[in-house]
Parts: sequence; C-alpha cells; structure tokens
Amino acid sequence: MESWKRRLRMGMVGGGQGAFIGAVHRIAAALDQQIELVAGCFSRDPANTKLTGAQLYLDPARCYDSFQAMAEAEARLPADKRIDFVAIVTPNAAHYPAAVAFLDAGIHVVCDKPMTCSIEEAEDLVTRVEKTGLVFALTHNYTAHPLIRHARELFRSGRMGTVRKVVAEYLQDWLARPVERDGSKQAGWRTDPAQSGVGGALGDIGSHAFNLAEYVTGERVVELSCDKTTFVQGRRLDDDANILLRFAGGAKGILTCSQIATGEENALKLRVYAAEGGIAWEQENPNYMKLYRLGEPVRTLGRGHCDYLTPEAMAVTRTPAGHPEGYLEAFATLYVGAVEAIRRHIDGKPMPTADYRFPTVHDGLRGVKFIHRAVESAQKGGVWVTL
Ligand SMILES: NC(=O)c1ccc[n+]([C@@H]2O[C@H](COP(=O)([O-])OP(=O)(O)OC[C@H]3O[C@@H](n4cnc5c(N)ncnc54)[C@H](O)[C@@H]3O)[C@@H](O)[C@H]2O)c1
Repeated sequence: MESWKRRLRMGMVGGGQGAFIGAVHRIAAALDQQIELVAGCFSRDPANTKLTGAQLYLDPARCYDSFQAMAEAEARLPADKRIDFVAIVTPNAAHYPAAVAFLDAGIHVVCDKPMTCSIEEAEDLVTRVEKTGLVFALTHNYTAHPLIRHARELFRSGRMGTVRKVVAEYLQDWLARPVERDGSKQAGWRTDPAQSGVGGALGDIGSHAFNLAEYVTGERVVELSCDKTTFVQGRRLDDDANILLRFAGGAKGILTCSQIATGEENALKLRVYAAEGGIAWEQENPNYMKLYRLGEPVRTLGRGHCDYLTPEAMAVTRTPAGHPEGYLEAFATLYVGAVEAIRRHIDGKPMPTADYRFPTVHDGLRGVKFIHRAVESAQKGGVWVTL
C-alpha cells in the first residue's frame, strides 16, 4: 500500500520509565497524526521495557530486550507490519550502535543529539546513510520554530546583508550542584565520559547552540578557540564553556554554554547582526523575535502572522497568533519533515535535495566535530583550531 494511505509505523529505542526525552518524542510524533508507535526497546532493563510497552498499549511481542533483537526481528516482519523508522533516544553512547543496527536492517532513523561520541562514528554514519539512501533525521528541535525558519530566510536571502556578528548562548543551572552523586539519572550519564562523550555542557547544549547559529545564518564556522571549565569539584566533564568563533564568510561569533549558570532554566538565545539588520530570539519566549533594521525602530515579530512572515515560517505554525506554541510543536515539526522524506522513500518518489526541514546526518557530523574541536582547543590552552 502506498505510504500516503496510512500512518507510518515507529519504533523507539530508549525512553523507558523515568526517562526524559523519549516521552517528548512520543508526543511530538503523535501531534500531527501521521505516526503510530508500534514497537520498542525502551531500556536496557527488559522489565522496564515491558512495563513501558504495557503503559503505551503495545503488543508485548514487539517490546524487545535489546535494540539488536528489535532491529533483526522487525526487519523479518512483513512489509505491512514492520516499523518504517526508529527513534533513538538513549544516552549518547548508544546512538551509534543503535543507528548502525537499524540502518543495516533497512530501517530509517530519527536520532537525538549529539549524534555520536566520536568523529569516526559520525563519519561512518554519513557513509552508511549515503550508501543506503535511508532517511536520517537528527532532532535539533530548535531549528523548527516558525520564527527561526523566518530568520533563516531573512539571512539566507541576503535581505539582512552580510552577517558580521553571531552571539549564541545556551545557559542552564541544573548541574550547579553535584546532582549526579544524588541519584539524578539524567545527570549521571551526562557527566560520565563513557556515556556522554568528550563534552559535558559542550555536547549536551553547546551542540544545539552551534547548530542553530549555522542553521540561521547559513554560514559555516571554520575556526574556534575554546575555554572550558568544570566548576563542580570531582565532575569529569565540562559544565561551562566560552568559545570564540570565526565564520567562513568573515563573520565573528561568541558561543557560550553553561549548566552552572545560577538562575537560568533553558536560556537558549540567538542574536545575529548583519550589515543591514539583525535578529534576537529566545527559546523561552519563542513566539516573538526582535527584528532590527539599521536606522529604524526595533520591531517585535509575532508567530502566526501571514501578512509579514515567510511561507517557510507559516508552513510550520499550527495555531493563530496569540495562542502560544513552543518546544513540543517545534519537535513535532521535525517529525513532519522526516515523515515526508520517509514517505517519499517508501513510495519511490524523488527525495528533496537540500532539506532544511530536519537536520541530517551531515549536521550530526558537524556537531560532533564542533564538540571535539572545542575540547581540543581548550586542552591546548585555547588555541585556534579549524573545523
Ligand atoms: N533535543 C533535545 O532537546 C534533547 C533534550 C534532552 C535530551 N536529549 C538527548 O536525548 C538523549 C536521551 O536523553 P534523556 O535526558 O532522555 O536521557 P534519560 O537518561 O532520561 O533516558 C535515556 C533512556 O534510554 C534508555 N537506554 C539506555 N541505554 C539503552 C539501550 N542500550 N537500549 C535501550 N534503551 C536504553 C534508558 O533506560 C532510559 O530510558 C540524549 O542523547 C540527550 O542528549 C535531547
């Protein structure tokens, strides 16, 4: 049956009882009624997987003890039963082996960030995705906010002039104390290099700020200099970093990320200044964006105004202006983009060439390189390194 006549079937790896982002992915996938969750390996603990599966009304036969068993069993099911794609929402270190298992089984992948723990793994995923032609969507969810899509069009169309300065911040305070030693599951693996990779705050949130800066400006970072710190004694990874950026087109930037910034919740902010204008956007107030034009009064753009927003922004807004949308809707928008690409693949239709509607395996490789180069620069005393 053509995929357009049915919902896509989704599997999930990670997202068991007590997990954070798995539930967000399930809500996002459900929002636009294009996707049905039918299988999962929600934890390394089979009892947790069974319980999670039961609470999600899944067939117990499709709740698997390991992601390897899940990939093999799903690939053996008839085409009208097996999952079309899997969402990988485990701690970072499991992203790579899980992605390989499902790509090898011919199953499309949606994966959370950072894509892998090493550059070699990231490059290998690029090769596998290119070889198989399967869809690989990376959930840098902030790229899907309507006003971010609008900003992207403003800079990429040249309407703002040459980009000169980029300020990307991602500040939180939830690791200001050593909560990893008090049993916080999320803090535990994020501060463990074996599960998180070489970056702490750098990998967890710096990678989002980096991705957003390149996404909106269309400019690639070519060099960086990083100063990273571990403020909480005994912690093994950075919990704060300050980075200078040089972009290919001549722009300069600052990227700062921190998980010990007392008082901050989830303060991802992006400011971009070009020769003719600029923008300022904050994810905690995502329905509004400041627009600057040189010599003119500051304007505040709202989400959902078809008279002045670009079609790219209007295409991803669901409710009229004044009815707030946010984190979950943007997450769902990435799923809409990925679903359309997967449907095209299933139905043998041409794939979009440059799909900005979801970050790809190539963006994943950029992010992993950013983390590694930033760590390398910091370890060498802040020397400039190329990216
Ligand atoms: N895009 C975002 O905004 C965002 C936000 C938070 C987390 N994340 C990313 O999502 C991922 C998960 O983060 P989290 O905070 O939900 O972590 P978490 O610890 O809350 O949940 C991880 C889940 O994965 C399961 N798991 C671990 N290894 C597994 C395996 N081998 N097979 C099956 N299940 C396994 C755990 O049991 C748990 O249920 C991380 O990569 C993180 O960087 C992204």
